[in-house]
Amino acid sequence: MTEKSVLVTGACGEIGQALVQGLKARNGYRIVTADLAPLPDSIRSLSAEHVQGDLVNRIKQFYDYDFDIIYHLAASLSSKAEVATEEAHRINVEGTMQLLMLAAYKSEKYKKSVKFLFPSSIAAYGMPDIESKKKAGRVKEEDWDIPHTMYGCNKLYCEKLGIYHSQFYGQRHLDPNPPVMLDFRAIRFPGLISAFTLPSGGTSDYGPEMLHAAAQGKPYSCFVREDTKISFMAMPDAIKSLLMLTDAPREQLTQQVYNIAAFAITAGEFRDRAVKAFPGAKITFEPNPRRQGIVDSWPEDVDDSRARKDWGWKPDYDVDKFFEEYFLPEIRKRYGK
Ligand code: SER
Repeated sequence: MTEKSVLVTGACGEIGQALVQGLKARNGYRIVTADLAPLPDSIRSLSAEHVQGDLVNRIKQFYDYDFDIIYHLAASLSSKAEVATEEAHRINVEGTMQLLMLAAYKSEKYKKSVKFLFPSSIAAYGMPDIESKKKAGRVKEEDWDIPHTMYGCNKLYCEKLGIYHSQFYGQRHLDPNPPVMLDFRAIRFPGLISAFTLPSGGTSDYGPEMLHAAAQGKPYSCFVREDTKISFMAMPDAIKSLLMLTDAPREQLTQQVYNIAAFAITAGEFRDRAVKAFPGAKITFEPNPRRQGIVDSWPEDVDDSRARKDWGWKPDYDVDKFFEEYFLPEIRKRYGK
């Protein structure tokens, strides 16, 4: 069997590292990685080639490859994007636009649909106030798509750009013989938690930061209120979802953007579980108004019934399994506690 040629951008990020490992474990892929940073030890030997630098500047270089699948993970996350909005737009939107154009061109030229997997986010939603958030409960993909953040706007717009390039690019769909177009698929991820890496620049970061701090016996001051509730997921489930959506037959997909969910808990519940696992953990709450506002605009939970129905999505880790079978055993090994 010939290997599939895969590009993973943002490979040094949290999802990137875990995805490269996940792809490698499956065999059958030649993985080209791209990132601003050099590859970390965790994946250095797994990448066939690494392109280091700004994607937007280096886009020409990627035309030399014929990728079957592109995982475009490079992004500036929500808190960071609020303090550098123009830079975030460049990273989040221009990088995506360039890669979509590449995938569209290659699909048309070689008459083979390039798969384009895009991580969108719960940040694509925007709830006007806490009352609406509480009332809305688990939101569906088409509801409350009024993001409050630059990052959320970027993600929502890139979903639209992906759909455009895969269906209507240049209005080619109206030609007598429409060309082959790219195959765009997106997942709106909740806050992700890895036992191996820490996020940076996001707003759901209080979850993983609190747990990693408690495991190391370091005090942690949480930047949101105790009652703040959003949806979270174990990193292995995030990787599983990306691979499942990659594999799903096109004809089974009724849409191109899917919610996925695992467990929705409050910052206070994180604290309780951290203290139970690491007695003596020092966790305080000192909300930062801007970051609090961002999380307050995100839904408490999302409705992932379409992902479940169309491609058989189901998380392996609910909240108990997440702590008992993934996070705590791994983190204890890591920090020796
Ligand atoms: N985890 C991301 C963030 O906090 C949301 O997609 O920005």
